[in-house]
Amino acid sequence: MTLSTLILTALVMSGALGALAARELAGDGAAAADAAMVSSRHEKWMAEHGRTYRDEEEKARRLEVFRANAKLIDSFNAAAKEEEEGGGWGGHRLVTNKFADLTDEEFRAVRTGYQRPLAAAAAAGSGRFQYENFSLAAAPQSLDWRAMGAVTGVKDQGSCGCCWAFSAVAAVEGLAKIRTGQLVSLSEQELVDCDVRGVDEGCEGGLMDDAFQYIARRGGLAAESSYPYRAEDGTCRAGGGGGGARAASIRGYEDVPANNEGALMAAVAHQPVSVAINGAGYIFRFYDRGVLGGAGCGTELNHAVTAVGYGTASDGTGYWLMKNSWGASWGEGGYVRIRRGVGREGACGIAKLASYPV
Ligand SMILES: *[C@@H]1O[C@H](CO)[C@@H](O)[C@H](O)[C@H]1NC(C)=O
Repeated sequence: MTLSTLILTALVMSGALGALAARELAGDGAAAADAAMVSSRHEKWMAEHGRTYRDEEEKARRLEVFRANAKLIDSFNAAAKEEEEGGGWGGHRLVTNKFADLTDEEFRAVRTGYQRPLAAAAAAGSGRFQYENFSLAAAPQSLDWRAMGAVTGVKDQGSCGCCWAFSAVAAVEGLAKIRTGQLVSLSEQELVDCDVRGVDEGCEGGLMDDAFQYIARRGGLAAESSYPYRAEDGTCRAGGGGGGARAASIRGYEDVPANNEGALMAAVAHQPVSVAINGAGYIFRFYDRGVLGGAGCGTELNHAVTAVGYGTASDGTGYWLMKNSWGASWGEGGYVRIRRGVGREGACGIAKLASYPV
């Protein structure tokens, strides 16, 4: 018998204090029922996601993380539903997806990986913006580069913080399709292994602009099929063999003028665009469906995605269509819709540092 059971037993027996102890016992009963419910939800989630743990200790630890995440998700969804029922804008919904048993720190370490550029690196851009005189009146009301065959299937960066490579590659794949008519899946792994100058550090993070510079300098990028993705840092083998052949090439890149969603639209109207974003918070990590409004997202940049279109939801909310690199089971088939026209830095910082290959 533990000390606390002894004390509890003593209280129950001491008459006047019996009522208080009974209330505490009832509270414990509710907590036990709640624990059983979370535990069975976790079991169901494990089966759904094919998750197994090393031992009971690891499982108990993961259950606690799952419980905390599920609580955040449930209260976010309840608040969104209440807002909608009150006639307001509910925004998006969250779900206990495949990341639900990871802590914030674990998630940031392996699933994001955007390096904020040093001031010098940011200033190194040419400053030219080729779409500066494009009239937005000439842009289509809505646009989806997938429908034009300029977007490859959703990829999964796995446990490697190289979102920057996936973001840059999707933009290059899109431009290559627009220029040549051919859509070829290109190699993120070549960037992870070979683009080691500057701030790009493979799975430890990097920058899209540096990736574009590498591709221009190297005379192009290998095809995914000849230099497949392995989700870990490796030795560069772009010199010879299958990795040597160039499947698509670019001249360089341009930055979209910062904090200007109009400029971003001018660019996206012409080609898929690499976008830095705040993707580390739980309201992005657990995104399920709907238009993500950005409240609570923050505009500090730590992740990268690719803008492949824009449009207006049935309730009139404008959105950007973003391709992510967390697999097709995340969000809306691997994509997220982010609110458009919120001004300045954009929802989740999307207007702060966008760029595209030329
Ligand atoms: C935009 O128009 C201005 C004024 O005519 C011109 O000087 C500038 O070169 C144009 N920019 C581009 C990218 O064509």
